[in-house]
Amino acid sequence: MVQTLTVLGLESSCDDTAAAVVRQTDFEPAEILSSIVHGQTELHSAFGGVVPEIAARAHTEKLDICVKQALDTAGLSLRDMDAIAVTAGPGLIGGVMSGVMCAKGLSAASGLPLIGVNHLAGHALTPRLTDKIAFPYLMLLVSGGHCQYLIARGPEEFTRLGGTIDDAPGEAFDKTARLLGLPQPGGPSVEVEARAGNPNRFHFPRPLLDRPGCDLSFSGLKTALLRLRDLVVLEKGGLMRSDRADLCAGFQQAVVETLSEKTRRAIALYMAESPPEPVIAVAGGVAANFAIRARLETVAVESGAKFIAPPLSLCTDNAAMIAFAGLERFRRGARDGMELSARPRWPLDQNSPSILGGGKKGAKA
Ligand code: KG4
Ligand code: ZN
Repeated sequence: MVQTLTVLGLESSCDDTAAAVVRQTDFEPAEILSSIVHGQTELHSAFGGVVPEIAARAHTEKLDICVKQALDTAGLSLRDMDAIAVTAGPGLIGGVMSGVMCAKGLSAASGLPLIGVNHLAGHALTPRLTDKIAFPYLMLLVSGGHCQYLIARGPEEFTRLGGTIDDAPGEAFDKTARLLGLPQPGGPSVEVEARAGNPNRFHFPRPLLDRPGCDLSFSGLKTALLRLRDLVVLEKGGLMRSDRADLCAGFQQAVVETLSEKTRRAIALYMAESPPEPVIAVAGGVAANFAIRARLETVAVESGAKFIAPPLSLCTDNAAMIAFAGLERFRRGARDGMELSARPRWPLDQNSPSILGGGKKGAKA
């Protein structure tokens, strides 16, 4: 019998409040019927980072508005849903709790089943939502809060090959921008400056490249940038436009080279399993960086794998990915009751060692 499932998804684990409706008939391509995202950038801009209490309060105020907008845009009501999916972690605990409480309320009022979703699984399953690819595929999550290599084997089966031991790359871009007086979010500002710069003028380290494995580290780059900036200021009494561009270009080049070498290693581990249709996918805001994306694509294609980067609106935090990950779990019979709890940490791969860094956006796994 043909089975069509329609799922409402809620996301509130960091600084985006989001709701979406996703529908899928059997294993046909899924359809995003609506995807509403309310960002909180301006609420946090004065503080130089996400303030958890402000984020949680804003989520509580915005969630029901988002849900109504998502249902209205889809032209549907709660009665048309088969389940409610919600991010239950990892993330900033106040925000995750806001989402879980809202979803529980909707579930209790409507009688719809409740499905808790791991936020990282939402990102990692996005290439199946956009490109309907088959398991197993290799996934690189690179954002302001996450950085890890995963082999996705099923909706709830992931093998973590490595990840950052401190900052996520997006955080490093944001800090770099702050140190150079460039606007936030830092990634796009640094990328624009870097275009006019000489990447070879300043020497930046290539962290952890001398060690085996796929772990990464980005906090040293920011320290290097601070030291190099201060040297220039000491020498010239200030930063010229060209100094700033050269610093950005050198920093970005270090990120590109580190990511490309670690990705090569992750691909080797993945390809050793002889996947029938090899795919390397990326997700996360940093994947918007042209230099990074282009280099990752080259590395993937050289290995004989297909390269997939979902559109940016689905790479960054959104609720369509949560609705879809919930739909995948629901189809396999998963159900969570009122005992569903919010989890600040929730590694996708329970067998891998925990990640050390916490970061500005809360726990990374
Ligand atoms: O995935 P995302 O929207 O949010 C989470 O971190 O979960 O990613 C945002 C991060 C920010 O740190 C931002 O500076 C970075 O992605 N980013 C970029 C670029 N665009 C956004 N980093 C480098 N280059 C870019 N073009
Ligand atoms: Zn995210």
